[in-house]
Amino acid sequence: MLRLPDPVLLVLVGASGSGKSHWAGEHFRPEQVVSSDRLRAVVGEGPRDLEASADAFDLLERIVAARLGRRLTTVVDTLGFDDERRAAWLRLAVAHGMPCVAVAFDTEPAECRRRNAARGPADRLSQAVLTAQLKRYTQVRVGLAVEGFTDVVTPQPVRVVPAAFTPAAA
Ligand code: CTP
Ligand code: MG
Repeated sequence: MLRLPDPVLLVLVGASGSGKSHWAGEHFRPEQVVSSDRLRAVVGEGPRDLEASADAFDLLERIVAARLGRRLTTVVDTLGFDDERRAAWLRLAVAHGMPCVAVAFDTEPAECRRRNAARGPADRLSQAVLTAQLKRYTQVRVGLAVEGFTDVVTPQPVRVVPAAFTPAAA
């Protein structure tokens, strides 16, 4: 069980198919989850429309900033592989006096590949792209511990606790 304070900023980190959106959807309300895929679908032709990425991330950053400005619990659902974006989200949370917890999706690569293969053609990544993501994940994962997050946790069922508690995996 993952005990999380409210409010908190959660930064999801994981390759495609590692279960980020699934976990976020199980434990948080849709408005709490700010998803780059969903915003690509809003301003582009679908969740995988990479040409819409710049617009989608522009919106994502504005939504995250607006929500943190109100100290609202927020889940950032992106791959989480961009070092500068992670650092900026952490700084923003600190500026608003909110804990910032990284959620690392250590899903087995074979399982990510299996889930990717099970997706429809429009949603499926090429093997080469997924391989590159899985490699990048291992690089990002080792650095997370020293980036200054309040905590680095793995996805588990969530229990929200009063903000005075330190977030920790129980
Ligand atoms: N899934 C599952 N059981 C889990 C986690 C995920 O069956 N414990 C399934 C989801 O229902 C989905 C697929 O695996 O069909 C991929 O999970 P998803 O949460 O969409 O992965 P993401 O990490 O969000 O992948 P992406 O970066 O592509 O959005
Ligand atoms: Mg997703």
